[in-house]
Amino acid sequence: MSTPPAPGHRFTVGVLGAGSIGCYVGGALAAAGTDVVLVARGRVRDELAAHGLTVVALDGTARLAPTDRYAVALAADALAGCGVVLCCVKSGQTAGAGAELAAALPPGALVVSAQNGLHNAEALRGPLRDQTVLGGIVGFNVRSLGDGTFRRATSGPLVIEASAHAALPAAAAALRAAGFEVEVAADIRARQWSKLVMNLNNAVSALSGAPTVELLASAGYRRVIAAVMGEALAVMRAAGVRTARVGPLPVRLFPALLGLPTPLFRVLARAQLKVDPEARSSMWEDLARGRTTEVDQLNGEIVRLAEQAGVDAPVNRRLVALVRAAEAAGAGSPKLSAEALAAAVLGA
Ligand SMILES: NC(=O)c1ccc[n+]([C@@H]2O[C@H](COP(=O)([O-])OP(=O)(O)OC[C@H]3O[C@@H](n4cnc5c(N)ncnc54)[C@H](OP(=O)(O)O)[C@@H]3O)[C@@H](O)[C@H]2O)c1
Repeated sequence: MSTPPAPGHRFTVGVLGAGSIGCYVGGALAAAGTDVVLVARGRVRDELAAHGLTVVALDGTARLAPTDRYAVALAADALAGCGVVLCCVKSGQTAGAGAELAAALPPGALVVSAQNGLHNAEALRGPLRDQTVLGGIVGFNVRSLGDGTFRRATSGPLVIEASAHAALPAAAAALRAAGFEVEVAADIRARQWSKLVMNLNNAVSALSGAPTVELLASAGYRRVIAAVMGEALAVMRAAGVRTARVGPLPVRLFPALLGLPTPLFRVLARAQLKVDPEARSSMWEDLARGRTTEVDQLNGEIVRLAEQAGVDAPVNRRLVALVRAAEAAGAGSPKLSAEALAAAVLGA
């Protein structure tokens, strides 16, 4: 593995928290000729050291990232010379990442939160007072296959909050050159809310243990997902939350789409999203690896919004409780059938 590129020499992309998203995005950038520094630890660091970094695109094309284009570092100080740093840790790790970045990055540096949830950019802005932090949305799914291989499992864009920061055009250009569909958005908050609605399905995925394709092929699971999303949209309406499109269809149509008969749903879903047969949510992976999930930053957000708006969100509340119980049990997905899940969260 090479040493980190010389600061300020070429436009270098840094990744803090090289896991599924960080390794896929970083590996695709390196394969396209951009210099990358990956701050990695634990299992991922060991895999990269033993096997290098391979990214597999949605069409199945595998590329080994050239070792002279990326460096793997232990700590955030290796990111000091990067043109942009992508923060790719889970939401519960954002506070630690922010403190490390604040100690490492020079004033004026650009950081993009490539994370799910609504508050990660804000949480980074606390310690990173002299830097620019932008919200971001990763609109696609990545699976960690082991042995340093990361596979993109769905279509979807990369959205970055609009900013006048001088490094943003170069960052967007590098990501586009690596094959990502990059959107720079002035309405990031409205889009984050839409992404949050889409991610509410992660809890169902994690509790069912089923691949996304199977989940969506089952009218029973779709009924649960439709109820979870429908409740969230109603709460958001009551609270005056605005959404904006991430992907071909507005999220307000999702519950009705999910309620269609399976053959019709299949046709319409195919137009909306390409999904690898093995795709599963990162929440499922968190349960499988015995880690804390982001359920509090996803379904938990709807429960809190409902409380603020003076309405109830029993479906999302029960889902949060089920995921928490699965985290505490530490035995991976409880593999609930559609009937068991419906009984537990819908009372039906
Ligand atoms: N995976 C997806 O398909 C997907 C899709 C869209 C959005 N997202 C979002 O993207 C974010 C990242 O998800 P992910 O699935 O890529 O997570 P992940 O696979 O868990 O990757 C995060 C990595 O960061 C490491 N890490 C955490 N704090 C660190 C630190 N201070 N220094 C160095 N490394 C650190 C973690 O190590 P440990 O495991 O040792 O803690 C882990 O390897 C989440 O907000 C997620 O919701 C994910």
